[in-house]
Amino acid sequence: MLKNDMLEQWDRENFFHPSTHLAQHARGESATRVIKTAEGCHITDREGNRSLDAFAGLYCVNVGYGRTEIAEAIAAQAHELAYYHAYVGHGTEASITLSKMILDRAPEGMSKVYFGQSGSDANETNIKLIWYYNNILGRPEKKKIISRWRGYHGSGLMTGSLTGLELFHNKFDLPLAQVIHTDAPYYYRRPKENMSEEAFTAHLAAELEALIEREGADTIAAFIGEPVLGTGGIVPPPAGYWAAIQQVLDKHDILLVADEVVTGFGRLGSMFGSDHYGMRPDLITIAKGLTSAYAPLSGSIVGDRMWKVLEQGTDENGPIGHGWTYSAHPIGAAAGVANLKMLDDLNLIDNAREVGAYLNTQMRAAVGDHPNVGEVRGTGMLCAVELVERREGRQFFDPARKVGAAVSAAMAKQGVIARAMPQGDIIGYAPPFCLTREEADTIVTTTADALSSVLGK
Ligand SMILES: Cc1ncc(COP(=O)(O)O)c(C=O)c1O
Repeated sequence: MLKNDMLEQWDRENFFHPSTHLAQHARGESATRVIKTAEGCHITDREGNRSLDAFAGLYCVNVGYGRTEIAEAIAAQAHELAYYHAYVGHGTEASITLSKMILDRAPEGMSKVYFGQSGSDANETNIKLIWYYNNILGRPEKKKIISRWRGYHGSGLMTGSLTGLELFHNKFDLPLAQVIHTDAPYYYRRPKENMSEEAFTAHLAAELEALIEREGADTIAAFIGEPVLGTGGIVPPPAGYWAAIQQVLDKHDILLVADEVVTGFGRLGSMFGSDHYGMRPDLITIAKGLTSAYAPLSGSIVGDRMWKVLEQGTDENGPIGHGWTYSAHPIGAAAGVANLKMLDDLNLIDNAREVGAYLNTQMRAAVGDHPNVGEVRGTGMLCAVELVERREGRQFFDPARKVGAAVSAAMAKQGVIARAMPQGDIIGYAPPFCLTREEADTIVTTTADALSSVLGK
């Protein structure tokens, strides 16, 4: 095909990119990269440059790129029935089948799945359902939602409020008043360096309890958290964290939303993070790994105790006043069915667990002793390298130096995409589950080389 030489100019003139420095991009100070094809763990741009994508897009292309089985399922669905809505009891073979496949894999005690398009809209749905639930139970004051600093739950009005990262609040008049934040379960950034993991967990549970008592338990509806903090820095929780949090929530009759947009469907090497950590959620948010991003689809899995009240609500008030045109879109649903089948058929979750453990071990061995590496951490097919100016006393770099971004840019030059996480100098890795050991080695050696070239050690 002939190359369109205007593409870069059209991009700068017309395309409003998400999460981008708009002014620099419009002025041509940051690059436009046009991705053309992809296969397995690699993407190729239209200049022919091939990169190992160690972040699976935005940790979503879990089965890897170029899976013809999923592409064919999408095409077959588009030919047979590209669209019909899901209102007033309508469905398609794909959406009904997918709801059954999800519930078959979900933790115990889950009842139904509501389908949306993105992780953000699924969390918006969750908050509406929580408010509805407490209104039906005659508790109109019990509405506040507790989230964690460094949590990521989307970038809508409510979900951007739940997200506990400065960039998503500043200048947007967020967070909204109904949202309050508690401390992040981030052991490396614990308040006192000599605190054990267990002591840190006890501290976090006590902080949560104090917050609930200050606000009044009768004003707090729910707590939302990712099983493993994702965009906030890829941080597995300290030992015993979820058991301790669950106990506080149970005591005060506060619902739990497990945001499994990243962890759902295998990223931790098990089907759901909730099972992995023994959480007992009332709602589970799913998106990314549901279709491996072959088509946009998300979901809110609703637990038994909420579902009963939702039924009571519609008996009392008529049909639920919530729905999107594209809820349970047949093309997304067909992609979801094919994707979940592929995870099973190719044992990809086992591979995520095994090769993920290898990636973490090799990364720790290669860069763990570097004087500017504060911590190497991870679980399943997730890994992070946190950079510091000095290890003693955990002295972080001045954010203005953008050291994390420089390391990730140096890696990109060598053909490996790792993500500079948005808050802190943290390099994040979340490759597709089909990663091989050789590809893991490439990620590790490229990281070590980039640290040497940027930090000179
Ligand atoms: C845990 C979590 N929740 C929600 C979202 C929002 O999903 P989306 O970007 O599809 O709206 C994300 C996105 O990265 C996420 O990581």
